Amino acid sequence: MKLGDFSEDELKARQSELQAVYDRFKDARLSLDLTRGKPSTQQLDLSNDLDGILGGFFMLQDGTDVRNYGGILGIPEARRLGADILSLHAAQVMVGGNSSLTLMYNMIAHMVEQWEGEALDSNSKVKFICPIPGYDRHFTICESFGIEMINVGFVSSGPDMDGIEDLVSKDPMIKGIWCVPKYSNPSGHTYDEATVKRFAKLGKVAGENFRIMWDNAYVAHHLSDKPARLLNLMDEAVQEGTEDNVVMFASSSKVTFAGAGISFLGTSENNLAAFEKSLVPQVIGFDKVNQLRHVRFLKDLDNLSTHMEKHRTLLAPKFNMVQGKLQAALEGKNIADWTTPDGGYFVSLDTLPDLATTVVDLAAAVGVKLTPAGATYPYGIDPENRNIRVAPTFPPLPDLEKALDVFVVCLELASVNHLLAT
Ligand SMILES: Cc1ncc(COP(=O)(O)O)c(C=O)c1O
Repeated sequence: MKLGDFSEDELKARQSELQAVYDRFKDARLSLDLTRGKPSTQQLDLSNDLDGILGGFFMLQDGTDVRNYGGILGIPEARRLGADILSLHAAQVMVGGNSSLTLMYNMIAHMVEQWEGEALDSNSKVKFICPIPGYDRHFTICESFGIEMINVGFVSSGPDMDGIEDLVSKDPMIKGIWCVPKYSNPSGHTYDEATVKRFAKLGKVAGENFRIMWDNAYVAHHLSDKPARLLNLMDEAVQEGTEDNVVMFASSSKVTFAGAGISFLGTSENNLAAFEKSLVPQVIGFDKVNQLRHVRFLKDLDNLSTHMEKHRTLLAPKFNMVQGKLQAALEGKNIADWTTPDGGYFVSLDTLPDLATTVVDLAAAVGVKLTPAGATYPYGIDPENRNIRVAPTFPPLPDLEKALDVFVVCLELASVNHLLAT
């Protein structure tokens, strides 16, 4: 039954029950963390064979010694692997260090140089569109460059393309958009075909040097045995003549070692050449030894997908646990909506308006850390204060279970308190 249909007396009775449970959590002195989407130790263990895999052989087929300087775009074998992952040609792909975020940051630094060559309207700020809820570190990059962020919401097929096309066509100071097109962080969306085709056309109506930052961080991270299909944006962009507007990213962070993986950037060969030049002052070459380790370990797409199945075996029970707990405690009460993702690392939950901060604070007070409310929005401001990102991957299953027990009680308690106060 919907909580809103309860009489005041019924709500008060429920409030006392929930408060009693909450007080018992206080006594339990919990210390649990559902904040960041990190792989668990068991997941990291799946890639321990990276250690020592080279067995003292550091030479590439072309005679390159990977221990030495050079090769800023990465070793050919790793570029080929990245190209397979991103469905691009190897000549369109470079391989970086342990973080695709670094490549994203550097790409924006490079774009800033390009804007300097444009006659920009000095009364207006450079802007990026941010589909929300989204990934906080994308927003942090924009903030660090003083780029104004514009929120655009999601519909079931992906980001609201009507809104995006309207904005982009009217304001040439909009220079980019962040996208996590597959198993989006945190909403779980995979953009449908029509959405990708519309993205491919955006470059035709946008101002100069507009870039679609296509962060395919979860490209291989399925939770179901029917992986979602994402149309290849670059193929579509080539047909539209907009390939210079596309910049793709991926990494092995959530495939092998989150802190010691390799990253990929894919774009038109034109763009890649210009980007390479912009990297020259800061790096002679990324860690090619690690690139070779990854090539030896991941081998090819078939082997990658077998490896990702092992991740799925570890992750699926955790995501099932989240769904089970949310359904059992909240279904039908009309106090929260949440996603059931078929890939990626998160569940996105919306509380009643204005309650996300309260829920996060209630949980923190009994030792359960949740991602701060607002983190999924630019500037940390969720205008409706509703969204909470649940990250179930890192804690062991028994800890996750306890943390979810606390979470649902905090959520219902905050909702009951709110209904009684209004
Ligand atoms: C959408 C998205 N992009 C990028 C990253 C970080 O990637 P990397 O470790 O390659 O910097 C994450 C990590 O959570 C993410 O969710």
